[in-house]
Amino acid sequence: MASDLSPIDKAKFVAAKQASQYVEDGMKVGLGTGSTAAWLVKCLGERVQEEGLKITGIPTSSRTAALAREVGLDVMSLDEARWLDVTIDGADEYDGNLNLIKGGGGSLLQEKIVATASDQMIVIADASKSVETLGSFPLPIEVVPFGWQTTKVLVEETLIGMDVLGRKVTLRMNGEAPFYTDEGNHILDLHLNRIGNARQLSLVMNQIPGVVENGLFIDICDIVVIGHGDGRVEMRDINQGCIAETRIEFVETENLFADLGD
Ligand code: 5RP
Repeated sequence: MASDLSPIDKAKFVAAKQASQYVEDGMKVGLGTGSTAAWLVKCLGERVQEEGLKITGIPTSSRTAALAREVGLDVMSLDEARWLDVTIDGADEYDGNLNLIKGGGGSLLQEKIVATASDQMIVIADASKSVETLGSFPLPIEVVPFGWQTTKVLVEETLIGMDVLGRKVTLRMNGEAPFYTDEGNHILDLHLNRIGNARQLSLVMNQIPGVVENGLFIDICDIVVIGHGDGRVEMRDINQGCIAETRIEFVETENLFADLGD
C-alpha cells in the first residue's frame, strides 16, 4: 500500500510517475535499472493497460527485462531498436550540470550504451541524489575478469595523478564471490569522496586496458525529475535551462502497489 512506503520510496515513486508522462504513443523507450527505474516500468505498464499506450521498452538489464515483461510491456533489444526516443533511468548522484554517477546496481555499461543511443535521457531520483560535486558515492567501473587485479593496480596508479580526495579501490562482491555484471564482467568501486574533474577522469579511466566503461555520465542527461516524499516533483531541463514543479497524488492502484519487493 502507498501508505506503507517510506518517504524515500514515495519520492522515487512520484519521480517515476511524473517521468512516465514524457512517454508518448509509438515511442521506443530505454528502461533503466534500479528501484526508481522499477517504479517507472510499473507506471508504464499501468499506462499500457489503462490507456492502451503502444510503446516498446529496451531494458538495460536482465532484471528490468523480466519486470517489463511481467507488467505487459513489449520488449526489444537495442540491436533491434537501433535508436530510441527516450531513456528513463535512475542515478546514484547528479550535479548541477546533470552529470551523473551511475552503476550502483551494476548495470552501467548497458545503461550508458542505451542512454547514448537515445534522443533524450531523463533521470528520475529522490532529492538525496543531488550533490554539489560528484564523488561521495563510490564510482563504479566495469572491468573484464581477465587480469582484473592488474587492472585494479593500474587504476590505483592512475588515480595518483587525478584531482580526487580518496583513492581506495574495492572489488564489488556478491556475498563471498565477486559480483558479475550481465556482460560477465566485474565492478571496481572507486572511493574518491570528491571528483574535481569528472570529464577528465571519465576519459582517463576508459584508456586503461581492462576497463570496459565507467559510471560517469557526462553531458548525457537532459532532464532530471526529482521526487519528494510529500508528493512534490521538480523537473530540471538542462537544455531549456528551466525548473518546473508539480505535485503527484498517491492513488493506490492494484497494478502499481501489488508488489513492493523491488
Ligand atoms: C544501476 C543504476 C541505478 O540507476 C542507480 O544505482 C540508482 O538506483 P536506485 O534507483 O535503486 O536508487 O545506476 O546500475
